[in-house]
Amino acid sequence: MNDFPSFLSALRLEVDEALDRLLPDTETEPAVIHEAMRYSVFAGGKRVRPALVVLAGEAWGGAREDLLVGGAALEMVHTFSLIHDDLPALDDDDLRRGRPTLHRARGEAMAVLAGDALLNRAYEVLAREPASAPPERRLEAVRVVGDAVGTAGMIGGQVFDLQHEGALDGGGPAHQAVRSLERIHRLKTGALIEASTRLGGVYAGAGSEGVEQAGRIGAELGLLFQIGDDILDEVGSSEELGKTPGKDRQARKLTYPGLFGLEGSRKKALQAADRCLALIEGLPSGRELFRALVAFLVHRGS
Ligand code: IPE
Ligand code: IPE
Ligand code: MG
Ligand code: MG
Ligand code: MG
Repeated sequence: MNDFPSFLSALRLEVDEALDRLLPDTETEPAVIHEAMRYSVFAGGKRVRPALVVLAGEAWGGAREDLLVGGAALEMVHTFSLIHDDLPALDDDDLRRGRPTLHRARGEAMAVLAGDALLNRAYEVLAREPASAPPERRLEAVRVVGDAVGTAGMIGGQVFDLQHEGALDGGGPAHQAVRSLERIHRLKTGALIEASTRLGGVYAGAGSEGVEQAGRIGAELGLLFQIGDDILDEVGSSEELGKTPGKDRQARKLTYPGLFGLEGSRKKALQAADRCLALIEGLPSGRELFRALVAFLVHRGS
């Protein structure tokens, strides 16, 4: 198959089934937080990270059922990161995945707690499932995700992102600003996307070399993904994106369009895409779908 959007929309049903099975139900007390977790998880995300776990895992012969567990856990982590990213203390956003943000809909306290609960649930799942996997494999999965979320990963990236708010001075791409920008993007977004492909390798038993190879592809895909996110913040509409555009410029965030302009950012995206395509050549299988994924990331409109 060389049509990534079709692959993604078919897989989304399986991912949502796994999420539904692995999240606490709304009958269980305290129901209010379980309902809040589900409000954000089932608001209609693209499910790119679970798709990457499956894509990478299947390239090394992993079982779909196992990969969906890892994918669901990463989608919980990702949704936690979005809920907290939208809080007034961070990006202060009102709209997410086409719905009012969780703090708007359920209050700030519940948004903080539902984010915490999703992150915690992800580790519970990774530690316990798939029950048939050797314990070392589950431990390795916890380690991969823990490294990606922490202060050397996504959370660290969010800190750098906040520190650079208001930093855009219109002076163009000074060497130091370019380095800071790439670091922010590789951490705040790249780390979880790298963890997605790594996790695929772990569940598939790809061995340390295979996992490293999967990780290198994920890291470049992650940078490409966030360059696209920056571009969409400039050119997308709230209907297409399900979130409010123009926020980066408003906060004078350090972004690709901010430093390189739109055309310059598109060039950077194509360069990142070329690096991805070169790495994909080394995959044991599944190259065609990976190439389709790169095309999807270059051209995506949401
Ligand atoms: C948005 O991620 C936030 C970033 C890390 C760039 P997505 O674009 O994957 O958001 P959803 O999951 O589809 O809502
Ligand atoms: C998001 O970066 C990174 C994380 C959520 C970790 P952004 O702040 O650019 O994401 P959006 O644009 O709000 O989705
Ligand atoms: Mg942010
Ligand atoms: Mg944001
Ligand atoms: Mg953004």
